[in-house]
Amino acid sequence: MGQLSTALQAYRLFLLFVALSSAGISVSGAACSDSDRAALIELKSGLTDPYIGVFSSWTSKDCCSGWYGVACDPDTGRVTDLVLRGESEDPILTMAGRPGLITGGISPAVCRLDHISTLVIADWKQISGPIPACITSLSSLRVLDLIGNRLTGSLPSNLGKLYHLAILNVADNQITGPIPESLTQMGSLMHLNLANNQLSGSIPSDFGNLKMLSRALLGRNRLSGVIPSSIGQMNRLADLDLTENQIWGSIPASLASMPVLSSLYLGSNRLTGGIPAVLLGNKGLGILNLSRNAIEGPIPDAFTSISYFTTLDLSYNKLTGDLPKTLLTAAYVGHIDLSNNHLCGRIPTASPFDRLDASSFANNDCLCGWPLQACAS
Ligand SMILES: *[C@@H]1O[C@H](CO)[C@@H](O)[C@H](O)[C@H]1NC(C)=O
Repeated sequence: MGQLSTALQAYRLFLLFVALSSAGISVSGAACSDSDRAALIELKSGLTDPYIGVFSSWTSKDCCSGWYGVACDPDTGRVTDLVLRGESEDPILTMAGRPGLITGGISPAVCRLDHISTLVIADWKQISGPIPACITSLSSLRVLDLIGNRLTGSLPSNLGKLYHLAILNVADNQITGPIPESLTQMGSLMHLNLANNQLSGSIPSDFGNLKMLSRALLGRNRLSGVIPSSIGQMNRLADLDLTENQIWGSIPASLASMPVLSSLYLGSNRLTGGIPAVLLGNKGLGILNLSRNAIEGPIPDAFTSISYFTTLDLSYNKLTGDLPKTLLTAAYVGHIDLSNNHLCGRIPTASPFDRLDASSFANNDCLCGWPLQACAS
């Protein structure tokens, strides 16, 4: 009993500590380093926040205590985290009753925070200008999240220097130029989101070197070139999204050997060639979207009892031939769209076809049977 209450007391103390530190009350840590404070002040002076008051707490001497969004190493007083999010549940935003909006740019002064491991300046909509190239000198950086601004310019070519970076998210900006070749040296990268920018050029051919990567979101850019076959060697990649680019060539069969691939979005590109048969029998691939390409040939009759698709969208291609009979043996097929191809023949009257509606089959050459019109004979 005594032991239990001591443990409980220790736990309560711990909770109090957590509450105090998250309230920004310093719990006997080192005060902010002068150089970090100066760097933060310079960063702040480049940004204008007319509505929220994000920086209203950035006034006291000790930036490690009570400065909104700033966290330090309590032993050294060096800034380790800067987290400013314009869309969150944070009281500073709910009190303002509106999402954040900040104008200005990210000052290169941010690169003087050379002990920082988490840098998040996200969803402020109007922050413009380039990502400071010196950011690649922040060798402790693990999280770089600049999503949802209006950043322009290109990604620093030596981005690969950020060897400890686990999360790189610059989606929803206006970044131009190529994906730097050096990116493939980021041996710790787990989550890559470059979606919805204006990136051009091709995906680096040794993209498959990113052995830790589990999500690669590159959709809605202007990428061209082929899908590197090295991607097939990625043992942790679960989600690959290349939607709405200008990627050509055929789908590498090597993608089917990826052990944990669960979603593959390749819609709205310029892919040609056939659907690799092995992809359809792949265990674990739950979402396959090949819509709006120029994929040709028959749908391989290669579904198996472990095929399990929540979404299978093959619409707007040049697929020909019959519906594959093995689709009837698949463990599960949820949403399926085969419309706008050149398929022909009788729609089987068995699961999964019997619960689909006509739109799944519309605009083919000569498919017939329920839910389309009856076959001629
Ligand atoms: C497949 O991707 C296309 C974009 O190419 C998109 O319009 C479509 O909604 C996606 N299909 C599904 C079922 O999400």
